[in-house]
Amino acid sequence: MAYKRIVLATDGSAFAESAEHVAATLARASKAKELLIVHTYERPDKAQAAVERAEATAGAEGLQPEVVLRDGAPAEDIVEVADVREADLIVLGSRGLSLGEQIMGSVATKVSRHAPCDVLLVRERPVEQREEGGIPYSRILLATDGSSTADRAARKGYALATRLGASVTLVFVGHPKTGELILQDTAATIGEGAPPATMLILQGDPAEAIMDAAAREGLDLIVVGNRGLTGAKGLFLASVPKKVSEYAPCDVLIARTVAQSLSEIGKGEGGILATGDHKVAVYRDEKGVVHALSAKCTHMGCTVKWNPSERTWDCPCHGSRFSPSGQVVNGPAAKPLEPTDV
Ligand code: FES
Repeated sequence: MAYKRIVLATDGSAFAESAEHVAATLARASKAKELLIVHTYERPDKAQAAVERAEATAGAEGLQPEVVLRDGAPAEDIVEVADVREADLIVLGSRGLSLGEQIMGSVATKVSRHAPCDVLLVRERPVEQREEGGIPYSRILLATDGSSTADRAARKGYALATRLGASVTLVFVGHPKTGELILQDTAATIGEGAPPATMLILQGDPAEAIMDAAAREGLDLIVVGNRGLTGAKGLFLASVPKKVSEYAPCDVLIARTVAQSLSEIGKGEGGILATGDHKVAVYRDEKGVVHALSAKCTHMGCTVKWNPSERTWDCPCHGSRFSPSGQVVNGPAAKPLEPTDV
């Protein structure tokens, strides 16, 4: 996967160091156009010092990062910068919640939920591993259930593996016969041209089975979609990305798999479509009529997201909320979303 604009979120702590190394090596491997180092500070006099190590790490990879200093709330700042600068990847450290409520742990959870792009959660690594200076991933796990959203995540994972020269382990959790068909189809269609993947069909709770397999097989990155992986009965829709991102023993890439075609948006649902350079917020009403609005929040330009439980367009940056027809429900935005064409 060729990431062109990468946001590295760092708090300058020892714990964020692994994420800084991974972001720099990935930016170099992807020939990224921009690496943005985002730091939210509490004390302005210490802000620059907090990002120096990240700048030096990027410099050692031949990169010239841009530093963005903010004084708001870390998760919101990271999401906003990624959105406004149209980043395609956010990299940040994540200790996982099992160790308690560390600040970056909860930031990682919020960013994973609201990011407008892929999110790479980097676990802390031993120093020797970081100092090797090579490509951070050599064995990548792609989990799929054969759904269109899982296919998109698998496509991104395959592309990343190909770029990094990493091996791929394809995983399905569920009935063996179904799994065989889905994995073979995924390898043949999405993995066409890539080295043959190892295939694993597992049983049990999908998130736990995926994490156990990663630990057992010594895999260093798990790729999951930010939704999907529903299983045959759709029982685990929300739990897999959440559980894996919080508890996996290795790094996790949460691939954003937004709706990509109008036909995927059912009656009473909304979704974001990318049309050229623009993102369109599309709502299909109960009669099947499509309503298209600019997805740019009228406050400061972040991309709104469909909130299925409230049936509103919500802005992840500062909390504005709009009705399906684009009218302001909550500020700070004062103007409605602009009507547009699909
Ligand atoms: S950009 Fe501020 S609420 Fe949307």
